[in-house]
Amino acid sequence: MKKCLLCGSSVEPFLSFGPMPRANGFLRLEEFEREYFFPLEAAFCPGCAMVQITEQPEPERMFNASYPFFTGSSRRMALHFEEFAKEAARHLPPSSNPLVVEIGSNDGTMLACFAGAGMRHLGVEPSLNAAQAARDRGLKTVSEFFTLDLARRIVQDEGRADTIVAANVMCHIRDLHSALDGVRLLLKPRGLFWFEDPYVGDVLEKTAYDQIYDEHAYLFSVSSISRLLKRHGLEVVDVQPMPTHGGSNRFTAAHRGALPVSRTVAAFLEREKRLELHHRETYDRFRKRCEESRDRLTALLKDLRRAGKRVVGYGATSKSTTVINYCGITTDLMEFICDTTPLKQGTFSPGAHIPVRSHEQFLSPYPDYALLFAWNHRDEIMEKEGGFREKGGRWILYVPTVGLSN
Ligand code: TMP
Ligand code: ZN
Repeated sequence: MKKCLLCGSSVEPFLSFGPMPRANGFLRLEEFEREYFFPLEAAFCPGCAMVQITEQPEPERMFNASYPFFTGSSRRMALHFEEFAKEAARHLPPSSNPLVVEIGSNDGTMLACFAGAGMRHLGVEPSLNAAQAARDRGLKTVSEFFTLDLARRIVQDEGRADTIVAANVMCHIRDLHSALDGVRLLLKPRGLFWFEDPYVGDVLEKTAYDQIYDEHAYLFSVSSISRLLKRHGLEVVDVQPMPTHGGSNRFTAAHRGALPVSRTVAAFLEREKRLELHHRETYDRFRKRCEESRDRLTALLKDLRRAGKRVVGYGATSKSTTVINYCGITTDLMEFICDTTPLKQGTFSPGAHIPVRSHEQFLSPYPDYALLFAWNHRDEIMEKEGGFREKGGRWILYVPTVGLSN
């Protein structure tokens, strides 16, 4: 029996994907032979209610000098992080020369907002290329994983932090015990710790199984994260639902007992009870919906191929790796995937080896159908791609249900 990474109870696997490559493992032709696979399986812990994957590649395999994801590649996301930074800055506890630390600061998109307001700042980003991009714009960044040990060194060098922020990072950290002990040590007594991650409630509601991939060690619920934080002397004091990544929660946390807890937290806990997020059967029902979704998507793509239509993928997202490999989407069903990230262009998708091409290739000429892998950026993309619809192109969607957009 596999054990929970956080509480040691035996976990209950509910969805096995079989061998899966790294979600961001876009690769070149000469790398096909030594492509890395691991068994991707999602499980529920009856002991602490945390949804997790039972195996994860070594962090260094995922977050290294060739990490191809840059926060700044979506304009809307950049605006979202600016808003997040402003909210965190507005709630800064009174302090003469506040220090803001960002865990997983990527290319510095969010950190730049604090730095721009003249604040003392420090980014922590293990992916060297992203960390370097941040340094190139003058942002102080250490290129390491955030652990208790690093927190100790930051306290020595910079003092304690007034605010710690982390966007789409905490759910990536397998050893959350060390990271949360680090937060506890680094955070001033009345400081605030803000973090935002995809919400398991949305994943279940939207059958968004593509949030399950190697980098996401966990899918948080308010109950599971509240319980975990308490073990580390911290406490969730507020929760705000966010539309990002198809449905996320922005948590505000503080030292246990330091600040009043918003009533929203209790409302969330009640709602999660009603949704039966603590019951294994909920996850079994989710698996059935995933299987139906997979079968429908595969059938649709096969019908389109039989009808001689050209189908491409839109957005070589991390999520697309799960969909492509789970649904068995091969190069005969999908011509290529377009993506605006220069690092991904000219590579092949992990596992199925579908070519990744530039956005220009999407335009000339337009395909008949585009499968929207970047569905979390749907509004931004639809707004931008009016021309595709005008020329008779159709979008294929698979979240929350498989279908064509009209
Ligand atoms: P994300 O879902 O993790 O945010 O990744 C989005 C991916 O989609 C990233 O590789 C960039 C790509 N993308 C486009 O190609 N075109 C777009 O308009 C947007 C918003 C994203
Ligand atoms: Zn557990």
